[in-house]
Amino acid sequence: MRTKMVAGNWKMNKTLQEGVALATELKNTLTNPSCAVVIGTPFIHLATVCEIVKGSPIRVAAENCADRESGAFTGEVSAAMVRSTGAEYCILGHSERRQYYHETAEILKQKVLLALANQLKPIFCIGEVKEERESNRQNEVVKAQLEGSLFDLSAEEFSQITLAYEPVWAIGTGLTATPAQAQEMHAYIRSLVCERYGKEVADNTTILYGGSCNEKNAAELFANADVDGGLIGGASLVAEKFAAIVAAR
Ligand code: 13P
Repeated sequence: MRTKMVAGNWKMNKTLQEGVALATELKNTLTNPSCAVVIGTPFIHLATVCEIVKGSPIRVAAENCADRESGAFTGEVSAAMVRSTGAEYCILGHSERRQYYHETAEILKQKVLLALANQLKPIFCIGEVKEERESNRQNEVVKAQLEGSLFDLSAEEFSQITLAYEPVWAIGTGLTATPAQAQEMHAYIRSLVCERYGKEVADNTTILYGGSCNEKNAAELFANADVDGGLIGGASLVAEKFAAIVAAR
């Protein structure tokens, strides 16, 4: 059975003090969750948040890591540095990184390799933009994203990856994909993983949905066979809402 998961992505929100308060509240609320729970925080929160949630079921993710191992890359944070905080996951390939920081499939491939080499499990985001959906090209876009960054991995390496389907038109817009749209795409993604790695790996791959997933629509999205959980932006910033989404899984 594949892992069911709800992961938060705080993005560029919360001061250190606010992040400490949120992590503490989550730790006190999510004492016995029915699925894996991961919170993705800015780099500066990682070490402190890892200390706070130590001994609880909550795991911690970075939202990014560098595409180089170490050295003269001012302002960058390496996968080894992330891992040294206690974080176990790393969100990679988020559409905001692709769009605003020009992260290409090739750059993301390097990041994935460095994350894996440093015992970080990537939560790898894929998804089409509005124009691509409108011209019915979502399948080819998602396929190219998988092939361009992940499908050169060995089956063993790939088994460390959690996928997150995040249609870009649904992120932060309130325009959630319908449960049917999510299920259709998740099943397609799983079929691609099956073609590349076989049925066992495909059946074991966790595929999250992200994009205006909230405490009101989560249960309906998670009810679909291939939707294994959610990657939550806005609603992950409020403990009550995030806990309600975890409970829906
Ligand atoms: P929202 O939940 O705010 O739409 O963000 C989704 C997302 O981008 C998670 O990575």
